[in-house]
Amino acid sequence: MPISNEIVQQIVEVAHVEEVISDYVNLKRKGVNLIGLCPFHNEKTPSFIVSPTKNIYKCFGCGKAGGAVQFLMDIDGLSYPEALRALAKRYNITIEEENDEAYDDNKRHQDSLYIINKFAAEFYQHQLLHEAEGMQIGLSYFKERGFLQHSINIFSLGYSPKSGTALLSETQQKGFNESYLTELGLISERNGRQYDFFRERVIFPIQNLSGNVVAFAGRSLSNEKSQPKYINSPENTLYHKTNILYGLYQAKSLIRKTQMCFIVEGYTDVISLHQAGIENVVATCGTSLTEGHAKLLKRFTSTICLLFDGDAAGQNATARGMNILLAEGLQVQFAVLPDKHDPDSFVKAYGNEHFHQFIEKEAKDFSLFYLDKIQNLQQHKPLEAAQLIRELITSIAHIPDSIQRALYMKESARILEVEENMLVVESNKQRQQLLKQAQRAATGSTQEPEAPPTPNIPLGEKKQQSYQSNEQALQFTEREILRLILLYGDKTLENENKTVAQFILEDLQHSGIQFSHQTHQQMLEIIQNALDENQPIDIFYFQKNELPELLKLAVDLLAQPHHISDNWERMHEIYVISPEENYANEMYNLLNRFKLRYLQKAREETIQKLKTAQEEGNQAEIDKQIHFQMHLIKMQVDLSKLLRTDIIK
Ligand code: CTP
Ligand code: MN
Repeated sequence: MPISNEIVQQIVEVAHVEEVISDYVNLKRKGVNLIGLCPFHNEKTPSFIVSPTKNIYKCFGCGKAGGAVQFLMDIDGLSYPEALRALAKRYNITIEEENDEAYDDNKRHQDSLYIINKFAAEFYQHQLLHEAEGMQIGLSYFKERGFLQHSINIFSLGYSPKSGTALLSETQQKGFNESYLTELGLISERNGRQYDFFRERVIFPIQNLSGNVVAFAGRSLSNEKSQPKYINSPENTLYHKTNILYGLYQAKSLIRKTQMCFIVEGYTDVISLHQAGIENVVATCGTSLTEGHAKLLKRFTSTICLLFDGDAAGQNATARGMNILLAEGLQVQFAVLPDKHDPDSFVKAYGNEHFHQFIEKEAKDFSLFYLDKIQNLQQHKPLEAAQLIRELITSIAHIPDSIQRALYMKESARILEVEENMLVVESNKQRQQLLKQAQRAATGSTQEPEAPPTPNIPLGEKKQQSYQSNEQALQFTEREILRLILLYGDKTLENENKTVAQFILEDLQHSGIQFSHQTHQQMLEIIQNALDENQPIDIFYFQKNELPELLKLAVDLLAQPHHISDNWERMHEIYVISPEENYANEMYNLLNRFKLRYLQKAREETIQKLKTAQEEGNQAEIDKQIHFQMHLIKMQVDLSKLLRTDIIK
């Protein structure tokens, strides 16, 4: 149900950006502005500015900027309507849902469920902290496990009494509607009698992104072997376990800040690591990883580290989970704990310091994890090694970006000393299979779809060619940017409160990018001068200041529209500036295209360095260049997503 425009207007006007941000960031006054450490990236000196008068924030370090709504979307991963609702709640603005009874009923129903879950969570918590049975059995159990009171509070842990009717009678007294309790699975029925679902268990409330309790997990403390160790609330309107990650509410801000999320197997692992200072950690709720989980995590980070105990790693379920993450374009790392430890027991046994060191040393890219294992097997167990190579290739085949796949294979071939081509052929085969599966799933048909084109892996000779044309394309985009400035530099950008020229120059400066062609760069600097002097940027400026070479370039740029063949356009993804009214869009687009080309050039250069390092056998340098290469690819992928073209395919 859409929120009406007037209400949106009202929310945006009433919400004070500094108040909203203060909940997350420690802000200090500096002149008319407030300043603090940016919550979106790691920094030691504050570059995050909040302007109460303009009601906006901007980070001069990472470039994140916006108003109160944007801030909540960024920091809490909320959607636009979710952010609006959160603000409405905070500022007591009633969102009148436009007369939609069905919606109202649904919403009321949901709200009631949330209220009951909240009540139950508080009830269990009270039992744990203040009632004799809870303290003796539950609290002492947690304390024995080494959970500090602080952690118990952060995760709102609780205890459900033995009696079997404790929660039931409490809710009856309060007059809660029993059908809600049944729906949430808090009360079950047997032989026509109702009783509490959780009995004699410690309770782990499961929260959604906004911190509302959507379900519970209960760990048995009784010695009866017939009891399952954990039981979970059944799925309900609030709780779909394939879309919920335990601990994400507590972890999300650090995940975003560190761009890293650890995934562990159990509830207690999450709490232990959190307590050990590793707060960017989550677990699934007793299921294996799903696409929903991967998509959820992707809202916060691009890198995931799977932390598993020795037996689990390499098992089918683990590999499947990993492939799901890879298929979402996430970078996946692995760390395997020694001696049948889980993260919780490892921390208990060796302490926080040791655990941090372990992560530092052992967490590695999934491919290296496999490659190590394969290398160990290659000598004595070739069959097992071959099987693992296939698994590795399967995982690589899940990665959507073709260049990244090619790189992984190159690296694997190098380390394993096998023919790269062999890996490529196998991967292509697997990839086709995957694409077919995906197509079939999408169309729901069982018919054999047309074979997708074989992914094109740039290898060998081609590279030199593409280097040439990339260089050309890069310079071409530089000229287009200059042309845009000469044509529309003085125009004001509505959303930015600055001119086209100002925006472009600041953007390039901020990205630390210089034009590759000397004359182009020179012109850019002259344009900066003109701006500084508040002079209009046009052809006369170059004339007046006696800059013949730049004048010639300017005349060239303005004289005639570039004529570019369709083919050239298609091949090089170059677009020529189109009519006037589009200048803002053209500008954003052009800048992104330019950056993409720029990154491409940087990558070509790293590949050269990588070659040299390989010839010299300089492993440290090889690692460094590969790492840098991965970084560049990631930026490129992000950018090309912005452009909605997959030009690096
Ligand atoms: N699990 C479950 N049902 C079970 C056993 C396990 O849902 N009967 C899920 C839970 O999410 C649990 C995870 O699998 O957290 C890992 O199980 P396990 O390693 O057995 O438990 P721990 O989390 O290590 O719990 P503890 O340390 O308390 O034994
Ligand atoms: Mn455990």
